Amino acid sequence: MLCRCVPVVALVVGAGACLQPPSIEAPPLPDDALPRVEGLAPIEDEDPAIDAVAYTLSARAADAELVTNAAPVQAWTFNATVPGPLLQARVGDDVTIVFTNELAEPTTIHWHGMRVPNEMDGVVEGEMRAVAPGETFTYHFIAPDAGTFWFHPHVRTNVQIERGLYGMFVVHEREADAPDVDADRAFVVDDISLDDDGDIAPFGVNMMEDMHGRFGNALLTNGSDAVATLSFAPGQVERWRIVNTANARTMILRFPGLSVRQIGADGGLWPQIACSPKEEIELPVGARAELEVRLAEGSTSASLSSVVLALDDNDDVVEIEVPLAEVELDATLETSSRAGHTANPTLALLDDGPATHTLTLSGANVPGGIEFTVNDFAWPEHEDWTVPQGELQIIEVVNRLGMEHPFHLHGQFFQVVSRTGEAVDDTGWRDTTLLRGQQRMRIATRFDNPGMWMIHCHILEHEENGMMSMVMVEPSSGHDM
Ligand code: C2O
Ligand code: CU
Ligand code: CU
Repeated sequence: MLCRCVPVVALVVGAGACLQPPSIEAPPLPDDALPRVEGLAPIEDEDPAIDAVAYTLSARAADAELVTNAAPVQAWTFNATVPGPLLQARVGDDVTIVFTNELAEPTTIHWHGMRVPNEMDGVVEGEMRAVAPGETFTYHFIAPDAGTFWFHPHVRTNVQIERGLYGMFVVHEREADAPDVDADRAFVVDDISLDDDGDIAPFGVNMMEDMHGRFGNALLTNGSDAVATLSFAPGQVERWRIVNTANARTMILRFPGLSVRQIGADGGLWPQIACSPKEEIELPVGARAELEVRLAEGSTSASLSSVVLALDDNDDVVEIEVPLAEVELDATLETSSRAGHTANPTLALLDDGPATHTLTLSGANVPGGIEFTVNDFAWPEHEDWTVPQGELQIIEVVNRLGMEHPFHLHGQFFQVVSRTGEAVDDTGWRDTTLLRGQQRMRIATRFDNPGMWMIHCHILEHEENGMMSMVMVEPSSGHDM
């Protein structure tokens, strides 16, 4: 039997060096430029056309200064930075990414959450091959949905993501739907497991890591453990996009001193009726949250914090709130009169119904380690499951283990329609959602994107140890792929 203990980590809490607050008066952008997203360095768009973007990425080893007052970490990176550069497009844009693998091992880029054509999904299955060392592959697709997405390899995923291969991809709404905010800001939250010398700790050498996934001992926000201080003008309102790129750690985020409304998740912005104030958000690995953020009434300093469990001096497990970013009121700045998120994008969600398919997540100890399974198969073994394109499926996902699994489906969005044992709080379209130990849930999806799509737990050690399957969506006739 697998145990259900809570992984406890001693966190190396950063020295808390303060970064310069970003200037609020940013220089004006040219008319056709994409909106500015603070927090990450954007990549340069090489296509001058207004409805197309072209980017060049390479995967390569590079030193990354992740931890303050420590030697740089020998990372694997997209374009020599951790996270990789911010990729952006407008919904409907033609996107070209020329990707070269400069690593010594095969890799790919998967566009997590983006409903791209199957052959652009960056997985290694069927006809789809990995990009060999030295090889170049061009990814090309139309950005189908507005929202906050991310990209990462899909080969030895636990190792390659942990070493630094991940980045955010923002697909902007057309102007009318975009929130009216003082700033649009990205937070890529991660943890990394470093050894005593400050190097990336070896992989696959500990049983806890195989079982619960790899938990880091340093928290990184946009590639650093430094805590940035943001100055807010009176009345300032921002849009925050948060993605959890950790291997295994579900992030519990709190907002002391802030007034926060969740306005979207994986599949973009929600209409007002679905947006609600939040004091805490649980963000499973792979998932995204979109927030509308203001300083709370009367508060002059605040933070975005992550709750982690640690051992105190008596070896008791305690909760600590680690600040990821600080917010301070600067009363000398001009008062903002921005309205925030007021648009009402349509959200035609699917209803519950009898299950048309069941996916059972399980696992067992086997000689030499742990094997995780979906419907009793450990990847690359998998069940044959074919659905016709466009068919509504209600999938019952059953967790037979005591540990949680962030469930992820490629190529489509789904709606969580019911859960046992807890209320459904899964407004909007998702591609990743948490299934707790011994629980079950039903998700509804219309398989409208044809091809062979992966289904897996996003705890990367579970995925790599077998908890992955696939569904074949047969193109309907008259539909060209
Ligand atoms: Cu983040 Cu198979 O995906
Ligand atoms: Cu994915
Ligand atoms: Cu799992």
